[in-house]
Amino acid sequence: MSTATYAEPDESEPEVPLMGGDVTEGVVRIGTTVRRPVGPNAPLVHGLLRHLEEVGFRGAPRLLGIDTAGREVLTFVTGEVAGRPRPAWLADEARLASVGRLVRAYDDAAAGFTLPEGVHPSFGVSEPPDMPPPPSHPAELVGHMDITPDNIVFRDGEAAALIDFDMARPASRVDEVHNALLYWAPLGDPADADPPLRDVDVPRRCRILADAYGMSDIDRSRLVEVAVLRSRRSWFSMRHIAEVQGGGWARMWQEGVGDKIKRREAWLERNASEIEAALTAP
Ligand SMILES: Nc1ncnc2c1ncn2[C@@H]1O[C@H](COP(=O)(O)OP(=O)(O)O)[C@@H](O)[C@H]1O
Ligand SMILES: [Mg+2]
Repeated sequence: MSTATYAEPDESEPEVPLMGGDVTEGVVRIGTTVRRPVGPNAPLVHGLLRHLEEVGFRGAPRLLGIDTAGREVLTFVTGEVAGRPRPAWLADEARLASVGRLVRAYDDAAAGFTLPEGVHPSFGVSEPPDMPPPPSHPAELVGHMDITPDNIVFRDGEAAALIDFDMARPASRVDEVHNALLYWAPLGDPADADPPLRDVDVPRRCRILADAYGMSDIDRSRLVEVAVLRSRRSWFSMRHIAEVQGGGWARMWQEGVGDKIKRREAWLERNASEIEAALTAP
């Protein structure tokens, strides 16, 4: 299904650049809308956003159409996005729990979405041939899979909406929770964490988010293994994307994201039993 042309209101409003993300150039706000370039994953994302609207899920922008400049038009979600420098509230445990609840609500809403005929996830790059295999757990839903602080809008101190669905793809629930924990626990060497998250109790935060999500026992026991496998894969995919896409991806690689991923893997090995214990303790 193609996406309808957006009918602009009579009064024109200025374009205000939106910062925050690392990679998408040209994200702007116009009045109550956001305009973004249409990315390679748009067929999946547009179907997903329409599904979320149909099932009455309120924690995502609505897709309003495509403007005459060929950009996707989404509703602007009012609220607060972390931005940089990172605010101290990133460490707040009540906010962390609200992230777990939002991701759960999204996953449950997305679980009824099936990919339209002929639609596949697409990120504009193929997988590098030397990439290690993914975790073997089957996909359960189309996950958001990019649950960074810049992709959550908070209102009244609670995670209210996910934005930026460019990475959405079939995923297992443990993959989705892992992705949230990556940024919000966070999973990685504390030296690499954003300042407000440098001294936090990471295993405890894993537990808080897992409880708020309502993570199953079996998924809790799989989390660390998934984290290690995903970390290994991300080193290969980040290097590959930096090579073929350049831009913000190349910048991140030059700034040492590959070494940061290696440090994360070593940190995961050192902290595996503590994380697992926190997740599975009665
Ligand atoms: N629908 C939206 N509602 C409110 N803010 C948004 C919306 N879309 C994007 N933004 C803001 O713009 C920033 C960058 O947009 P995003 O879609 O996340 O692009 P990127 O791919 O660069 O991460 C976000 O971090 C957020 O602050
Ligand atoms: Mg973003």
